[in-house]
Amino acid sequence: MNIAVIGSGGREHTLAWKISQSPLCDQLYVLPGNAGTASFAQNVTISTSDFDEVGQFMLDKTIDLVIIGPEAPLVEGIRDHFRTNPELNRIQFVGPDMQGATLEGSKDFAKKFMQKFNIPTAGFKTFTIDNLSEAIEYIQSKEPPIVLKADGLAAGKGVLICKSIEEAISSIESMLVNNMFGKASEKVVIEDFLEGIEVSVFILTDGNDYVLFPEAKDYKRIGDNDEGPNTGGMGSVSPVNFADKIFMDKVEERIIKPTVKGLKEEGIDYKGFIFLGLINIKGDPFVIEYNVRMGDPESQVVIPRIENDFVSLLSATARGTLGKEKIAFSQDTAVTVVMASAGYPGSYKKGKLMTGFEKVNNALVFHAGTKLNDEGGIVTNGGRVLAVTGKGSNLREAIKTAYENVNKITWEGVQFRNDIGQDLLKLEK
Ligand code: AMP
Ligand code: GLY
Repeated sequence: MNIAVIGSGGREHTLAWKISQSPLCDQLYVLPGNAGTASFAQNVTISTSDFDEVGQFMLDKTIDLVIIGPEAPLVEGIRDHFRTNPELNRIQFVGPDMQGATLEGSKDFAKKFMQKFNIPTAGFKTFTIDNLSEAIEYIQSKEPPIVLKADGLAAGKGVLICKSIEEAISSIESMLVNNMFGKASEKVVIEDFLEGIEVSVFILTDGNDYVLFPEAKDYKRIGDNDEGPNTGGMGSVSPVNFADKIFMDKVEERIIKPTVKGLKEEGIDYKGFIFLGLINIKGDPFVIEYNVRMGDPESQVVIPRIENDFVSLLSATARGTLGKEKIAFSQDTAVTVVMASAGYPGSYKKGKLMTGFEKVNNALVFHAGTKLNDEGGIVTNGGRVLAVTGKGSNLREAIKTAYENVNKITWEGVQFRNDIGQDLLKLEK
């Protein structure tokens, strides 16, 4: 099959890497890709927000299967564009339509969906500028911390955890009155604060059936011991020792099955990934958020553990035959450490020459923000630059392998966390 992956980050490098190993894969294209994907696939520089251009490319290259990595094109309706064109509609497609993508694109929609289908999540109410005074009253009736969420996509920055009533009131005013997150904060969800440990769970669904991927833990803060500002994710571990069988059974019964059934009942033909951001509260799972894509950097630990032919799984998803597939994954532990540019998650410089790739041994290096310079050297091209994944028969070994290899690659100003997996090691004792 000729296959196209849309996106340019570490998640897309990982998806494309796994796809490239399948005997079913003929030509593989990544739009636009990065220096990592260029080493085994063809990068294609076209604007992925121009759906006409993307569609024409698919027809020109006789693409059989398309996989969408990031949420933005899905929320903007790329699936709908393909569906309404008879020629494009013949192409197998992994990713929900606009309505399905609203699970991630609107927090208010996601919360109401969970409420309707009795899926455990924090209590909430949604407000706009028209009922600001009610929002303030609602805040005053709550105990801090109070969670405020911009309804729309805000590049992962739209959630504020307010430590006092005053902070919550001034924040909701910034969001509703001063458009702190632009259009995304025209509606704001006020949510009860949940205390527990977070875990990321992933499924691939064809709208009827689903396969459950290995779970992962993400390390969101820039600094060791979860200090400093939030990032897209600085590292990840899979499996997660506190997500035991009893917990995962609850996740399937209380969250995954009602989610897939609920989507169907709403008339949403959902074919794609669902990433459930969960919180474990004394052994019970609650949904923090839905995402309509794989996680990054969770993909870099989850996908290397999957033993299936990945193209078979993706194609079955698109064709609606996932019920015939059975997921298989290795019992190994995988740990990934994200290497980032100096200054990230704030402003950072690009174009730093990176060295040491040839010394990497027994690890997977997934590129995120990289590109090739005119001399063929690999230079930084983003905030999160690489994710280095080590595997091992246990967590300690996987951590060791990941860090041994992280220490072989360098560039001016490189930063990474030194404690990925350490909290889970402590739980093992
Ligand atoms: P989200 O963008 O919804 O994933 O939120 C970003 C982060 O905010 C999550 O990963 C959690 O750490 C935190 N968060 C979101 N909602 C809640 C909540 N109701 N209670 C506690 N923490 C939350
Ligand atoms: N690592 C969290 C995310 O992909 O949203």
